[in-house]
Amino acid sequence: MLLPLRVRPLVRDLPAAAEVMAAFTDGRRLFAVPESVSLEVQDHLTRVGFKGEAGETHAVPLAGRPVRVLFAVGTGKKLTSDTIRRGVAAAVQYAKQEGRRLVAVLIPEQAEVAPVEAGRAFAEGALLGNYRFTAYKPELAKRERERSLARVELVVPRGSLRRSTEGVRRATVDVAGTILARDLVNEPSSRLTPEVLVVHARKIVAASRGAVDLTVWNRKECEARGMGAFLAVARGSAEEPAFLHLTTRPGEREIPKAQAKTTAVPRVVLIGKGITFDSGGLSLKSADGMETMKIDMAGAAAVLGVFAVLPKLRLPVEVHGLIAACENMPSGTATKPGDIVRTVSGKTVEILNTDAEGRLTLADALGVARTLKPTAIIDLATLTGACVVSLGEEVAGIFSNDDQLARAVLAAADAAGEPVWRLPLVADYRSQVKSEIADLKNVSTKRWGGAITAALFLREFVGEIPWAHLDIAGPSYAEKQHNPVIPAGGTGFGVRTLLRYLESFV
Ligand code: BES
Ligand code: ZN
Ligand code: ZN
Repeated sequence: MLLPLRVRPLVRDLPAAAEVMAAFTDGRRLFAVPESVSLEVQDHLTRVGFKGEAGETHAVPLAGRPVRVLFAVGTGKKLTSDTIRRGVAAAVQYAKQEGRRLVAVLIPEQAEVAPVEAGRAFAEGALLGNYRFTAYKPELAKRERERSLARVELVVPRGSLRRSTEGVRRATVDVAGTILARDLVNEPSSRLTPEVLVVHARKIVAASRGAVDLTVWNRKECEARGMGAFLAVARGSAEEPAFLHLTTRPGEREIPKAQAKTTAVPRVVLIGKGITFDSGGLSLKSADGMETMKIDMAGAAAVLGVFAVLPKLRLPVEVHGLIAACENMPSGTATKPGDIVRTVSGKTVEILNTDAEGRLTLADALGVARTLKPTAIIDLATLTGACVVSLGEEVAGIFSNDDQLARAVLAAADAAGEPVWRLPLVADYRSQVKSEIADLKNVSTKRWGGAITAALFLREFVGEIPWAHLDIAGPSYAEKQHNPVIPAGGTGFGVRTLLRYLESFV
């Protein structure tokens, strides 16, 4: 649903049109609020015991004024992008709940958050906080339509106007990609088969007006290329697998001719795990364990989300997106524990647990990625429950063979407000994925450190190319709302981090 955003200059009085006005406070001062109002509000906040801690919010009624409610948002010690994002999202949700249609957010001149970043955080908060997946809840869809806000305004000092507006514009692009990813993750598996993923990819190509190319390989074509690991996962399912390869190349406008001659254009491959349903295969999951496994294509959804908006950014970087899409199902044709397959790269793998299927599909995708001779490979995968044990539901793990790439991705994630924590590729654990009878086995000898051994398995297929692996099993899906920016369901995790990372090539 489209939510109109606007940026306006701060004037001496309150913006008259707003019904709900959000303002930030550290508990002592209400930033950017005229004194006539702020004294009254401060009084009220003190009375109710509001401390101004980060994440704390309180709605203060303003009697006899056009603005009906001042929605106070605590900043804690200092105002950050994250406080803005969450505060705006909370204000939007509050307004919807109260049947208000106009929201304004006051953001003061702050050294800590540059105007562009303030604009981005504002728009991300408003648009991501406004999201609900209503496709299968007609009543809710109706209510969402009825309660949709007329406008959310960002009010900033006149000097920040231009840069804040630029930030809003930029964030609107990123959020569109994130929302596509959320929608795809929320869609049930039987509605979002590998072939439907291809349909979505084709739509992205059509909308790009020639900026995105797509090649799709079916089962036969993957067979011809020797993708034994990917096909071993796909063979238990009645659904046709698909290997997607999206490409977008910068044009002359992004890379002036003179520059093109002297410097090579960076080439980044993004890989998304695309298991549209993970039953575990013959190593069948429990009923509980399977409940949310429609989300096992969240990596693929993030890659598609990126490609849906990437052409709009006109970045001087060549980007490839690879998705090995299939279902992991048990059947008479399914792969059996103990089977041995040959990957594209030639390495053989003993499949001891068919539920460790992600690394098999990724092994072949990484094999294809290498042939593209990229400057960097980044994969996103809902790969292991062990990563969720390590970092919880809200933080992704990152593994990398290249410190510079790891730092760049971590910086991008930090700016995007998507928490990512680096985990080690412990060299001594490598022997745990070696097989007696094949080159590798797809599960570790040992029980502990499952996120690490999964990453070590993947590493066997990347060679010397700078590579980062994001295990997004935790943060790609929220059982309950994590915070106002992340409502329950698919989160679209990774899209904004990847876009920020690609943006760093400018
Ligand atoms: N898709 C799962 C991982 C997962 C778990 C994602 C929970 C999201 C939430 C993956 O294919 C899997 O089943 N991994 C196994 C690996 C094990 C068999 C070595 C796991 O984590 O238990
Ligand atoms: Zn699995
Ligand atoms: Zn899986």
